[in-house]
Amino acid sequence: MHLFLLLILQVIAAFGQIDPTHCRYALGMEDGRIKDDDITASSQWYETTAPHYARFNREEGDGAWCPEGQLEPSDSQYLQVDLGRLTFLTVVGTQGRYARNSGKEYARAYRLNYSRDGLLWKSWRNRLGNPVMDANKNAYTSVINDLHPPIITRYIRLIPVTKLSTTVCMRVELYGCPWDDGLISYSAPEGQLMMPPGYPSASLNDSTYDGAHERRRLFGGLGQLTDGVIGLDNFLLTRQYNVWPGYDYLGWRNDSLGTQGYVEMEFVFDRQRNFTSMKVHSNNMFSRGVKIFSSVSCWFKPRLIAGWEVEPVVFKTVLDDRNPSARYVTVPLNRHTAKSLRCRFYFADVWMMFSEISFQSVFCPSEDTILPTQMTLVVTTPLASQESTVTPIPETAANPSASVPPEGNTAILIGCLVTIILLLVIVIFLILWCQYVCKVLEKAPRRIHDEEMTVRLSSCSDTIILQTPPVPPRSGHGPSGPANTDPHYERVFLLDPQYQNPAMLRNKLPELSQSAEASACGGGYAEPDVTQCTPHQCFHNSAPHYAETDIVRLQGVTGSNMYAVPALTVDSLTRKDISAAEFPRQQLIFREKLGEGQFGEVHLCEAEGLLEFLGEGSPLPDREGHSVLVAVKQLRADATSQARNDFLKEIKIMSRLNDPNIIRLLCVCVSSDPLCMVTEYMENGDLNMFLSQREIESTLTHANNIPSVSLSNLLHMSVQIASGMKYLASLNFVHRDLATRNCLLDRRLTIKIADFGMSRNLYSSDYYRIQGRAVLPIRWMAWESILLGKFTTASDVWAFGVTLWEIFTLCKEQPYSLLSDEQVIENSGEFFRNQGRQIFLYAPPLCPPSLFELMMCCWSRDIPNRPSFEGLFQALRPHVNQ
Ligand code: ADE
Repeated sequence: MHLFLLLILQVIAAFGQIDPTHCRYALGMEDGRIKDDDITASSQWYETTAPHYARFNREEGDGAWCPEGQLEPSDSQYLQVDLGRLTFLTVVGTQGRYARNSGKEYARAYRLNYSRDGLLWKSWRNRLGNPVMDANKNAYTSVINDLHPPIITRYIRLIPVTKLSTTVCMRVELYGCPWDDGLISYSAPEGQLMMPPGYPSASLNDSTYDGAHERRRLFGGLGQLTDGVIGLDNFLLTRQYNVWPGYDYLGWRNDSLGTQGYVEMEFVFDRQRNFTSMKVHSNNMFSRGVKIFSSVSCWFKPRLIAGWEVEPVVFKTVLDDRNPSARYVTVPLNRHTAKSLRCRFYFADVWMMFSEISFQSVFCPSEDTILPTQMTLVVTTPLASQESTVTPIPETAANPSASVPPEGNTAILIGCLVTIILLLVIVIFLILWCQYVCKVLEKAPRRIHDEEMTVRLSSCSDTIILQTPPVPPRSGHGPSGPANTDPHYERVFLLDPQYQNPAMLRNKLPELSQSAEASACGGGYAEPDVTQCTPHQCFHNSAPHYAETDIVRLQGVTGSNMYAVPALTVDSLTRKDISAAEFPRQQLIFREKLGEGQFGEVHLCEAEGLLEFLGEGSPLPDREGHSVLVAVKQLRADATSQARNDFLKEIKIMSRLNDPNIIRLLCVCVSSDPLCMVTEYMENGDLNMFLSQREIESTLTHANNIPSVSLSNLLHMSVQIASGMKYLASLNFVHRDLATRNCLLDRRLTIKIADFGMSRNLYSSDYYRIQGRAVLPIRWMAWESILLGKFTTASDVWAFGVTLWEIFTLCKEQPYSLLSDEQVIENSGEFFRNQGRQIFLYAPPLCPPSLFELMMCCWSRDIPNRPSFEGLFQALRPHVNQ
């Protein structure tokens, strides 16, 4: 039972963290879940432009909210929305007054003020301190602004901003999700500056903190510890662009806080809550003197006006001197009841750095009637007969202890008991269901791997359908919706054993199967005129969609990718298959970690004597006496034998690729463990990180020294990727995971396509998990890859279109960022049906129209209508240096 309760705690804890990339739900302006009474304003021009007409995409009244009179530059007119509860607000959408083409008023810019309690108002600023957001350019187009940082609030005010006297009207949608943590403020010592000799200094302050700063402490606000941004392993690198090293972390130096050896923080909550755990995301880069805390003691205060309970909960961590990864440390809080917490985090090294703190709790039904110990009971009654300890039990990290039930409050107790029993039944059901599903997966013919489920298609006729989890109901679709009555299309579930058999699948989905056959000839598809997307004849042959060249006559896996080629028995791969030379591993000197993935890590290393080792034909520039820097991908010692084989196969494939725009394998260390592959080092990292940290070149970027790229740089990057892909396509080699995260840049901005599978951690939200196993880049995948598991050069072309889109949005947004993963899968069904309901990626403002047309061709529903890489290369090349 203990085990079971721990399991429940873990389940609860798993839900206890906000992921800003997924917390983007419309909060109810458009659909009316936000009531008229909750939408107010500083003024309104007419009854027909009252605040409740500020609903997004709606046309009631005179079509929008308009404040009274002309808006002056000095005005602070506002539209206020009460969200009814604390909310993690991530996106704001605005429109002007369109009124069926009779309106023309809109806000060109706005500011945001917010309040968690309706009394104290704060002004929002972006991460660079700018409070004003650009908004609409006409009365009808919606403009969606991501909030960086997001806002935790209940009340929000949109304040239109103008430079000239003008009339302004607005319609609005707010996006986010409930803030279930309930944390309304934390206090902590101010973060500090780290100035290591020979390295850039890192400013470890809380730069978005919205409370007060007093005597070197932060009071009464929230900031970077609750913005949902998790710091990287190397605290000097940041997830945000245009910010300084150390930005993602709040950090302190041990000796700077007196001799106490700890950092004290206080956390205040919206109401009394029953705490199961606290999760602290902590850096552990011990090579720079940073470690997670050695222990933490937390005291509880049941009400605001009450003393601290005497006994703290103490939790000791297991320190880790081997793995420098940043990590979440989960501190069990033993279901203590409190309205505020005070925690002391003890240093384990010179520095301690946190990027996020979250709390997992349930709130107490009534603060006045239930005592803290009674609340403890609410969660743990099943254990009450076994244990009799009352309130805090020190150093009992894993002990889900309980209290004896006091007399009285019987009704509440019974209600709680029933709730708990129901919860237990649901959890048991979920566990049994998971076990059943896992069994089905295991039984499936070896198409499904232990580590991940990847769909292989080795010929036109070998079709597998990916399961999609139940999709939120949407008009006309969904498992139980009208779509099921559509004779041509049915949602299919991969885990259903019948779909493991392609013949059965075709019976079930005749239309899909026809389409699959028609499109499965992707390997031999003709090269259309790239600018016109005209349909071309598709070869009907039974040949696989890859060429049987020597180079790809094996199944290649890079990261979690599988190249769609005929099966080679795994065991037959031996050292003699690998043409790269064995390099003495003791000559590789570790410098720093570049990335980490499911199966291993990538390190930056100095390779002593590599130039001499490679001899005449070395592709590396001569660094005149300097040792050579290389990237070393190393397989984890505990990797499965499947991962090991995949690693060797990746080496074999890479050793035979030779193109200026494909990452070069230099040598390997495979004679002993851990297996390593050594590739050229790309100084500018991956293209996604590179672009997301830059703005488009302008006089402003020049004047302010802001890192920038020009349009011509972007076009040159696109051409290089097209060129690398042209080479792969000429070998009939299917990449399967083309995206900016898998393109690397050297110091001269040469791009090389790679896929080490190591970006999975950093970019985990780009991949879609099925049953926690399959990892698929669904936002880059063609509809036939999602629905039929079919990967071809033509689906690489689709991904190339998405990659172009990323490039011209400077990687500031994830593709289809407003769609959930399930909706992306649903959208691929719309692509298949092709009834005009599919959602395309929008034209990035930077992107020349002809280039957007090219992207749209890449997303043609019918495979023969998609351009070839040769065609794309030829179409893009003339744009460079114009
Ligand atoms: N990350 C993964 N591989 C890399 C490489 N070759 N160069 C730089 N960063 C990398």
